[in-house]
Amino acid sequence: MTQKVALVTGAARGIGLATTKLFIEEGWKVAMIDRDGDELAVAAKDLDQAQAFVFDVSIPEQVDQMVAEVTAAFGRIDAVVNNAGVADFGPIAETDFARWRRVMETNLDGVFLVSQATTPALKETKGALVNIASISGLRASTLRVAYGTSKAAVIQLTKQQAAELGEHGIRANCVCPGPVRTKLAMAVHSPEIIAAYHDAIPLNRYGSEREIAEVIVFLCSDRASYVTGQVVAADGGFDSTGVGLPALRV
Ligand SMILES: NC(=O)c1ccc[n+]([C@@H]2O[C@H](COP(=O)([O-])OP(=O)(O)OC[C@H]3O[C@@H](n4cnc5c(N)ncnc54)[C@H](O)[C@@H]3O)[C@@H](O)[C@H]2O)c1
Repeated sequence: MTQKVALVTGAARGIGLATTKLFIEEGWKVAMIDRDGDELAVAAKDLDQAQAFVFDVSIPEQVDQMVAEVTAAFGRIDAVVNNAGVADFGPIAETDFARWRRVMETNLDGVFLVSQATTPALKETKGALVNIASISGLRASTLRVAYGTSKAAVIQLTKQQAAELGEHGIRANCVCPGPVRTKLAMAVHSPEIIAAYHDAIPLNRYGSEREIAEVIVFLCSDRASYVTGQVVAADGGFDSTGVGLPALRV
């Protein structure tokens, strides 16, 4: 049987690295993409079914070169996981245009560019796109004017992709992780924020990278062959409980 190939962005650490490892466990090969070359080299060192490619997903020329190199190395792409993301939280008044663009260029432009550049390869394999948004794209909250807006846009972008690419057999789905203790989250989650999340999440804890990866890999697999245009929150129940008044708990 032909071995399937996944392209995972932001694969040097966190959710992207966990997704890479799970793909490999399930018999896939992985093109690991990250702009942090040092961390990517360390992450890829012991993964013999993976190959590292140092590129920045927010730069159109780099994305084109990345897709050319991955296609030359592997000959096919069956799944694309648009996971690379940056978190930069701040009040609206302190979000200058440079900060806004820094978030948008990776979180939104990067998803658009990588999806568009890999679409010809995905048409050939009738492959799958999985875009990583966030619970911050489903529920508004303070300090996330750029991050939350970028993630809400990724949710809509996924639906646009599902609508337009379905006739080519390409599925597009979106995963919205709740809080996971990665480097990204720890840079913006204070002890108070961590405690508040525990309180507001029905499962009462942060998720793990592996728990998010399980949903991503499922959506890329043939087991999800009739699923497209969907937004799946892997968030311990945070989104489904709305304001979740603590006073109403038993
Ligand atoms: N950790 C959480 O709590 C959480 C919650 C919701 C959503 N998410 C989303 O999950 C995704 C992964 O997050 P994580 O927590 O694993 O983050 P992380 O910071 O641990 O890893 C992100 C990786 O992406 C890479 N990256 C960033 N910008 C890039 C670019 N322009 N080009 C190439 N590589 C780039 C970084 O170098 C890093 O290795 C992100 O999209 C994030 O917004 C995370």
